[in-house]
Amino acid sequence: MVTKLLALEVYPQLKDVDFRVLRGVELNMRHYEWVPLERIASFTRMEIGSVSHRLGKLDNWGLVMRRSDLGYIGYQLTSHGYDALAIRALSKKGVIEAISTTQIGVGKEADVYVGITPEGREVAVKFNRIGRTSFTKIKLYRNEFKDKRHISWLYVSRLVAEREYEALRLLSPIAKVPEPVAWNRHVLVMEFIDGVELVDLRDTDLTTEEAEEILERILEEYRKIVAFGIVHSDMSLYNIVLRDDGDILIIDWPQYVTTAFPEARFYLERDLRVLLNSFERKWRVKKEWDEVWPSFEEAFLESLGE
Ligand SMILES: Nc1ncnc2c1ncn2[C@@H]1O[C@H](COP(=O)(O)OP(=O)(O)OP(=O)(O)O)[C@@H](O)[C@H]1O
Ligand SMILES: [Mg+2]
Repeated sequence: MVTKLLALEVYPQLKDVDFRVLRGVELNMRHYEWVPLERIASFTRMEIGSVSHRLGKLDNWGLVMRRSDLGYIGYQLTSHGYDALAIRALSKKGVIEAISTTQIGVGKEADVYVGITPEGREVAVKFNRIGRTSFTKIKLYRNEFKDKRHISWLYVSRLVAEREYEALRLLSPIAKVPEPVAWNRHVLVMEFIDGVELVDLRDTDLTTEEAEEILERILEEYRKIVAFGIVHSDMSLYNIVLRDDGDILIIDWPQYVTTAFPEARFYLERDLRVLLNSFERKWRVKKEWDEVWPSFEEAFLESLGE
């Protein structure tokens, strides 16, 4: 399903005051599930009447939601409102000048669009939609959430963007992953990659020999990453891009763990088995576990200084 970037469609109609109101809702959502109208009014230093009028417009555009059955009138930011705030911040910082309304990637937990920097460079803009379908990626962060009173999608989707930015920052100097550009709220901006995901290739698109060569390159890359101390933990044909120039890239990093993480070894083994099984099933590449695992085990231990 291709989703339109609604925030982008209404963006030209938004005034400074709208962003101030949205920001008032956003900040107060740390304390309220539904932010009282009075709180928004006092944050924005606006009259109740005029803030209520702006909120009505924002509601019609789909950027906030309103509830009146709580004993008070309360507002909540929608994911589109959150998008609008992130787009505004990234454009003010000079990170992006424009975003295309056509989506390039449809993931389970993110929508990816092409953006243009003020210098005219193409970038990928990834909007995290965690919570839209499931909370699969969050399981890994349970510890970080233990002390939070309420875990909102706002907080989680922001954490996801920050974590992926961090992974790309650490890995891009040493391995084939997209170069990160910036992040704001739940949005990650990174180098745009022209290519095709391995999952979109047909079995007839590659010979067994070609596929074997690609698998070797992926394993070589992944070994470097593991030796550095990081495990992807969602490795699959969906998250490997074959570039037009024949090179490969490993994408989609928010759920990474360090090799010191208690279940890191389990995730690494699972990643490798997924890769070997997919290459065998799709392109009949036969690679024995015992041929692959020892060098990864060595890299894993090396990363731990053992
Ligand atoms: N840097 C990039 N350049 C070009 N296209 C990208 C880039 N990053 C992601 N994409 C495209 O967007 C799709 C979704 O991105 P990604 O895999 O990072 O998130 P996701 O699949 O939504 O996460 P999940 O695996 O949880 O579903 C990719 O499969 C790819 O087609
Ligand atoms: Mg993906």
